[in-house]
Amino acid sequence: MADGQIIVTGGSKGIGAAIASELDARRFPVVCLSRTGTSDVGQAIACDMTDEAAVRTAFARIAEQGTIVGLVNNAGVHIPGAIATLSVEEFNKTIALNTTAVMVAVREAYPHLKDNGGTIVNIGSFFDKLGVPDNLAYCASKAAVAAMTRCMAVEWARDRIRVTNVAPGYIETDLNRDYLARPKVRDWMKQRIPVGAPGSVADVARLVAAIICEKIDFLTGETIYVDGAQGMNH
Ligand SMILES: NC(=O)c1ccc[n+]([C@@H]2O[C@H](COP(=O)([O-])OP(=O)(O)OC[C@H]3O[C@@H](n4cnc5c(N)ncnc54)[C@H](OP(=O)(O)O)[C@@H]3O)[C@@H](O)[C@H]2O)c1
Repeated sequence: MADGQIIVTGGSKGIGAAIASELDARRFPVVCLSRTGTSDVGQAIACDMTDEAAVRTAFARIAEQGTIVGLVNNAGVHIPGAIATLSVEEFNKTIALNTTAVMVAVREAYPHLKDNGGTIVNIGSFFDKLGVPDNLAYCASKAAVAAMTRCMAVEWARDRIRVTNVAPGYIETDLNRDYLARPKVRDWMKQRIPVGAPGSVADVARLVAAIICEKIDFLTGETIYVDGAQGMNH
C-alpha cells in the first residue's frame, strides 16, 4: 500500500481514467473528481473543478478520510475557434477549467501537502510552445499551466512539494479515435510524428505514475513532453 491518497481530476474517462487505473495498480488509494462523479477504480466524487466552493469542500472531505500525498490536475477542455470570431465567453471557458481551476486545486491541496511533502502533476499539452490555428485559448491555457508549474516548484520546494507539468502530444482517446483513424489524418500523423503514430493513454499514465512513485526531489518545475518528439520535429 502506498503512503496516501492521490486526487485525479477528470478521472472519469480518457487520460485521467488511465492515470487513475495505473495508480490503483500501483496500490495508491485514488480519488477521482469529475462532473459525472464516476470512475473505474478507487473512489469517485462529483465535483465541477470550476466551482471554487465545491473544490474546497471535496478536498476537505478527502483530507478527513486520510492523508493526501498527491494531486494530478488532468481535467481539461479543448474548444477550437478562429481568433477573428473568438468571444470572451469562449476564451474564458477554456481558461476557467484549464488554468484557473488548476490554481484553485493546488491552492486547496497545499495545506494538506505542506506538512509531509508530496507530488503535484499538472497535465499540460505540447501545444504550449506551438502556434496552432484555431487554438489560441487552448494554447494560452496550457502555456499558463507550464508557467504556474515553475512558480509552484520554486515557492513550495521548501515544503518538499515536487511539481511537474506533463505535456502530451496527440493521444488516442474515445473522443478522437474515429478522427485519428481517418486515412488522411493517419498519413499526416505518420509524417509529422517521428515515432509514426499518436500515443496511448497508457503512455501518459505510466509517466505520471512513475513521477509520483519515484519521488525525485531534484525533478521539479519542469515540463516533460510525451509527444513522440513531434514538438521538436523540424
Ligand atoms: N487527448 C489528447 O490528445 C490530449 C493531448 C494533450 C493534452 N491533453 C490534456 O489531457 C487532459 C485530459 O484530456 P482527455 O483527452 O483525456 O479529455 P477527455 O477524454 O475529454 O476527458 C476530460 C475529463 O475531464 C473531466 N472534466 C471536464 N470538465 C470538467 C469540469 N468542469 N470539472 C471536473 N471535471 C471535468 C471529464 O469528466 P466529466 O465529463 O465527468 O466532468 C473527463 O473525465 C486535458 O487536460 C487535455 O487538455 C489531451
